[in-house]
Amino acid sequence: MWTVKSLIESAADVLQRAGSHSPRLDAERLLADQLGCERLDLYRDAERPVSEVERDAFRERVRRRRAGEPVAYITGVAGFWTLDLGVDPRVLVPRPETERLVELALEHTKTHVPSPWRVVDVGTGSGALALALASELPDALVLAIDVSSDALDVARANAERCGLAGRVRFVCANVLAPLVTRPGSVDIVVSNPPYIAEWDPEVEPNVRRFEPGLALFGGADGLAVVRRVIAEAALALAPGGLLLVEIGHRQGAAVAEIARQHFDAVEIAQDYGRLDRVLVARQRGETAYAKLAPRLGVSRRPAESPPPLEPNDGPGPELAPADPRAAALDEAIAQAIPVVDISEL
Ligand SMILES: C[S@@+](CC[C@H](N)C(=O)[O-])C[C@H]1O[C@@H](n2cnc3c(N)ncnc32)[C@H](O)[C@@H]1O
Repeated sequence: MWTVKSLIESAADVLQRAGSHSPRLDAERLLADQLGCERLDLYRDAERPVSEVERDAFRERVRRRRAGEPVAYITGVAGFWTLDLGVDPRVLVPRPETERLVELALEHTKTHVPSPWRVVDVGTGSGALALALASELPDALVLAIDVSSDALDVARANAERCGLAGRVRFVCANVLAPLVTRPGSVDIVVSNPPYIAEWDPEVEPNVRRFEPGLALFGGADGLAVVRRVIAEAALALAPGGLLLVEIGHRQGAAVAEIARQHFDAVEIAQDYGRLDRVLVARQRGETAYAKLAPRLGVSRRPAESPPPLEPNDGPGPELAPADPRAAALDEAIAQAIPVVDISEL
């Protein structure tokens, strides 16, 4: 006769042999989710007999996990910050290290004055960063951008699920295309962009196999989207604004060098494993837009009270796109979506 305990032990054994880094935890999460209880509850009734139907359903879940599928795709849920987010193969499974960006953004809001905060999450995926910040900053205006409309469907459903639907706007766009013509329109930009180099041998085969390539890979050196996030955030951020970008643990020096071309104060923050993980860049004085505008032949708009944009305003000064498809995409987006004024959301 199978019991809760013997089922967990047998699944953990199977998953360990299949190469899982956390076989017992995986087995517990799969079974707890299936039985509709918390992991700890499994051990309150560890000798409870398991029916054949329950056992067959659990076996199917273990089979999927054994084939390398992330537990979160099997259960359909991933924890991030204080939220339970729905996830599926349209979005990256949010990772614990990304919570460091939430911590750093919240620290910034304690020492700086602007309120309501105007926050943009670039590459929102499941909505993890946008929703975590909206949940912590009740007055904030939060805009979540993703180039994938599939990902935005997941993020919107998560906003509903978390009771934050009225708090976050979602826009399908390339990086910060809708905001680069809005100097000073944003106080905080957070982004966990794709930053893995396509050839990177450190990427686990199962990550490559199951999670969306658009969420993972940033061109030959991994930094194609990161470069654009930095350059475009420098245009959109207000003086005193903050940019936080998650990066790979070997990218700190290269990313800091790129950021110094656009920002006054640049540092690389580490995660709890003491690995370089987050670009922290601040704009002290005039925004980069104000500095660049005369050279680009674009008139500077005052950061304090930007006038509303005409609907046919373009995507702004042309930035050297790292990916040749990006310029075409920007153009398509400029035609397809209204330009967003985040301060009026
Ligand atoms: C690493 S995932 C991060 C998802 C989520 N923010 C998180 O931390 O779990 C990167 C996200 O960026 C999106 N993305 C990739 N290229 C983009 C671009 N050029 N502009 C906007 N979003 C992009 C992908 O669709 C994906 O959802």
